[in-house]
Amino acid sequence: MRDSDLVRAARQVRRRAHAPFSGFKVGAALEAADGTIITGCNIENASYGLTMCAERVAMFTALSEGHRRFRRIAVVTDVAVPAAPCGACRQILWEFGGDLDVILANLRRIAGRHRLSELLPLPFDARILK
Ligand code: THU
Repeated sequence: MRDSDLVRAARQVRRRAHAPFSGFKVGAALEAADGTIITGCNIENASYGLTMCAERVAMFTALSEGHRRFRRIAVVTDVAVPAAPCGACRQILWEFGGDLDVILANLRRIAGRHRLSELLPLPFDARILK
């Protein structure tokens, strides 16, 4: 699968984002180790703080469907400089996905590819609790 296939899936699911408060729609597409694509979009709500980001929707959906190993995630936003995952999402992606490739894109282009370990250096995770 090419990065562009994953980005296409993220662009598609972004259309389902529920973002009436920020107007900022995000789509995420996660590739599991077996090649399955699992998608998520951001879901806002009137209490604001309970908003769930697209990346976490994708990861929690994947986990609930039984996936445990992952390769890549594409994140799509409609801004000139495509946004990287927020800190909370970096933590969740790291804990459940490990050192994923993170592809950042907008509606027109793929802007970058990063290892999650670059985006979340010196992580806190389960190894520290042992
Ligand atoms: N958002 C995401 O979906 N992913 C991120 O990594 C950052 C922010 C959403 C949350 C909220 O609905 C909107 O973008 C503005 O913050």
